[in-house]
Amino acid sequence: MADILDRFESDDHSEKTVTGGPKLRVGIIGCGWIAEAHILGYKKLPNVEIVAACDLIPGKAEALFEKCGITSGVNFYPSDEAMIAAEKLDLVSVCTYNRTHASCTIHALDAGINVLCEKPMCVTLDEAVEMRKAEKRSGKLLTIGFQPRYDLNMKEIKKIVESGALGKVYYIQTGGGRRRGIPTPYGTSFIQDDTAGIGAMGDIGCYSLDMVLNAIGYPKPLTVTGFKSDYFGKRPDNYPTHPEYAEVFNVDDFAAAFIRLEGGIVLDFRIAWAMNIDSPGDTIILGTKGGLRIPATRDWNGTTGGPMLLYHEIAGQQVTTEIPLLKNPFSSCFDEKLRDTVDCVINNRPAPVPTSQIIINQAIIDAIFRSERAGHEVTVEIPEI
Ligand SMILES: NC(=O)c1ccc[n+]([C@@H]2O[C@H](COP(=O)([O-])OP(=O)(O)OC[C@H]3O[C@@H](n4cnc5c(N)ncnc54)[C@H](O)[C@@H]3O)[C@@H](O)[C@H]2O)c1
Repeated sequence: MADILDRFESDDHSEKTVTGGPKLRVGIIGCGWIAEAHILGYKKLPNVEIVAACDLIPGKAEALFEKCGITSGVNFYPSDEAMIAAEKLDLVSVCTYNRTHASCTIHALDAGINVLCEKPMCVTLDEAVEMRKAEKRSGKLLTIGFQPRYDLNMKEIKKIVESGALGKVYYIQTGGGRRRGIPTPYGTSFIQDDTAGIGAMGDIGCYSLDMVLNAIGYPKPLTVTGFKSDYFGKRPDNYPTHPEYAEVFNVDDFAAAFIRLEGGIVLDFRIAWAMNIDSPGDTIILGTKGGLRIPATRDWNGTTGGPMLLYHEIAGQQVTTEIPLLKNPFSSCFDEKLRDTVDCVINNRPAPVPTSQIIINQAIIDAIFRSERAGHEVTVEIPEI
């Protein structure tokens, strides 16, 4: 856990806090790996009281809260339905595996509860549509947990594009991955279709897509040619302590796509949990006036792998400008996402990571898999909600 979350840390440990207003009554749905970060983050917020939690596995929620040092004041339930029926809640964190993001989110919204749903939004485009419909009919907040949005260096990418320094953007290459790194932190929920639904695409691919699509204003995708493979996930040697995991692996460990976006932009994308190379390369954004290189990280870790480089021209000369790395003014992007979500609920602000954007991210993932199944390019249509 620390290994993942420390990657978002800055040197400045001064906490911002939400002040004013009543305490929000918060519930946690799903008490596995990432729920711990939600519990510890909410604990730091004075305007939040975690009052309920649930998990399908008996005793799991109770054990996690004990590990987090919370031994009283929380009611435990065997499912999201049971918790929502019994408790009056203002906000839930949906921390379940991908396959139950949609059902838990829709159920909570229909009960009049605001929702912070972990990424990826869900598994299919149809589910994303249903989540958006539930959001609309409930009038409640639904935000998707992409904490790299809070990283100042990631924000800088969007600022550079919006400044016009690149001119008209027409080509983007992005993605990321690991030479070997199929995640099985606490079992097989990331690598089985009936829990994860999507593998590397849902774990890290959605982040890479969000980084560049958010920077260019989330244009709609028109067509997608997608590919996915699973050459590594099925190899027992990739799980030194649990070779039996290879038998149940049935999601993607690599995916690639060529995506045409509205506005004459193409996006060349690849993502890997395992491959025979150290990195699939830096992210590059090409425009008519300038090009931006965003150095790849060792694996996807929510920020840039070093200072970005802007390639442009001054008075007829080709020059390269290094963009200095920025320090985040908070302790971690993960905590910042929780603080901001709470702040939005209390102050009636719109969702910080809106589903109007993330449905596009989900539509691309959905289209990559449809294209892989079809063996050719597919068109993308996102219903208006
Ligand atoms: N934002 C991040 O940095 C980050 C990091 C890791 C994981 N995640 C995301 O968080 C989600 C959970 O990942 P994880 O590693 O914690 O998974 P996990 O398998 O460790 O935990 C998920 C838990 O949800 C429970 N659950 C499933 N459906 C439920 C339901 N209807 N009601 C109650 N409990 C239910 C399961 O029993 C399980 O204990 C995934 O979607 C993953 O992509 C995000």
